[in-house]
Amino acid sequence: MKNSQELRSRLRTFKGRGERYAPATSGPFPKTVHEAASTDALRSWPPSPVFVQAQGCRLFSRSGKAYFDGTGGSGAVNLGHQHPRVVAAIIQQCQKLTHTGWNLQSQVRTELVRELGAFAPYQDCAVLFTVTGSEAIEAALKVARAYTGRDTVIAFDRSYHGKTGGSLLVTWRERFRKYSPVAAETVSFAPFPLLHLPGPAGQPAYCLEALQNLVAAAWSAGCPPAALILEPIQAAEGILPGGRDFLAGVLQVARKCGSLVIFDEIYTGFGRCGTPFYGSREGLTPDLLVVGKSLGNGLPVSAVLGPARVLNVLPPGFHTSTFAGHPLACRAALAVLEVMEQEKPWQQAAALGLRVFQFLQDQENRSEVIAGVRGEGMMLGFDCVDQGGQPSASLSRALVEEALARGLVLRCGGFTGATVKLTPPLIIPAEDMDFLLAALAQAIAAIRKR
Ligand SMILES: Cc1ncc(COP(=O)(O)O)c(C=O)c1O
Repeated sequence: MKNSQELRSRLRTFKGRGERYAPATSGPFPKTVHEAASTDALRSWPPSPVFVQAQGCRLFSRSGKAYFDGTGGSGAVNLGHQHPRVVAAIIQQCQKLTHTGWNLQSQVRTELVRELGAFAPYQDCAVLFTVTGSEAIEAALKVARAYTGRDTVIAFDRSYHGKTGGSLLVTWRERFRKYSPVAAETVSFAPFPLLHLPGPAGQPAYCLEALQNLVAAAWSAGCPPAALILEPIQAAEGILPGGRDFLAGVLQVARKCGSLVIFDEIYTGFGRCGTPFYGSREGLTPDLLVVGKSLGNGLPVSAVLGPARVLNVLPPGFHTSTFAGHPLACRAALAVLEVMEQEKPWQQAAALGLRVFQFLQDQENRSEVIAGVRGEGMMLGFDCVDQGGQPSASLSRALVEEALARGLVLRCGGFTGATVKLTPPLIIPAEDMDFLLAALAQAIAAIRKR
């Protein structure tokens, strides 16, 4: 007992990050409680401040310090934090109906089907609701497999479509299990352009030729792909645009071999790149369009969109989840679509994004520490490079750290670890824009001196 009291008192005076450790309130032994390392934002670099409030482009920490959110909540708040119309809609819905479960219909869900269908680029559009981006990707792959009757999938080098996988494989009922999104051994990866780098390997023509060869090999082996899945601009691995020629080429290859093309527009959608969807800007319509993130402007809702004849191939009840089409998230999404229709925030994303892009290009021309400025609209990235011009993950971390010290939250990563990503809300007031550019310039100057 004495020992446990001592331990409790040591835990109370623990000088580390307070959020991780709490003294036990019951039971014979003291307990420690902490968020698992896998999701703990305090273990990312630099550790995230603990935020208690947000407004527009700003996040406020416990001490009241304001930060510009250069991440846009992982690209999920295109309209800015706490958008008044979205917040009002959620509050109203909260007072009426917060949950039914997927198998009891709610009016707000039917309204969202109608509005989302009108917003999507399909004549006879169906909407398959899911909760997270990863879940929507899995649902899209199931649809593709069911529609084509094929098993294999082609994805692309440096793609990121989520981190889940497996729950269906451990589900007992065979008739559900046979719609498993895809098995690891049936996925192949084709090259994706690296337009910002010299050399043929990153160019669209080279990548398309390699894709054609891969598809031809799959045909001869008797396993043509059910789907080709790609992000129009790869997000997680370093803001890497595929470019129009490449995307159009992928659609052509797929049409020839009867495979579906799935555009993962979870990041690029809802105005981020200067048009409602990335595909709409290029006049390209995939067979399936996967959306998430900013659809709910901060509330979890995602969906697969596509022609009804394709989506309805999956039998009723074969892709469901308890919170799919959740009333609060649907109401938030309806408010988002209303604001999108009226204010067309993608126009701002295009104009402000161009200003930030030109600013970064100017920094690239004047400084030897950043290179490879790229992206579209409010989805921008650049690499930090060392004196030899090589990508430097430690410099990009240093830049993110310097930015944070100046009140600008950024994240870095990508396949080299050296990419700094900039995906703020699309609507940035003039004074916040000045702040963003000044903080960026100072952070870049600070790493140049290191
Ligand atoms: C392009 C893309 N696809 C899929 C996902 C996975 O979405 P979620 O994290 O909501 O599961 C992400 C997440 O960042 C993403 O950027």
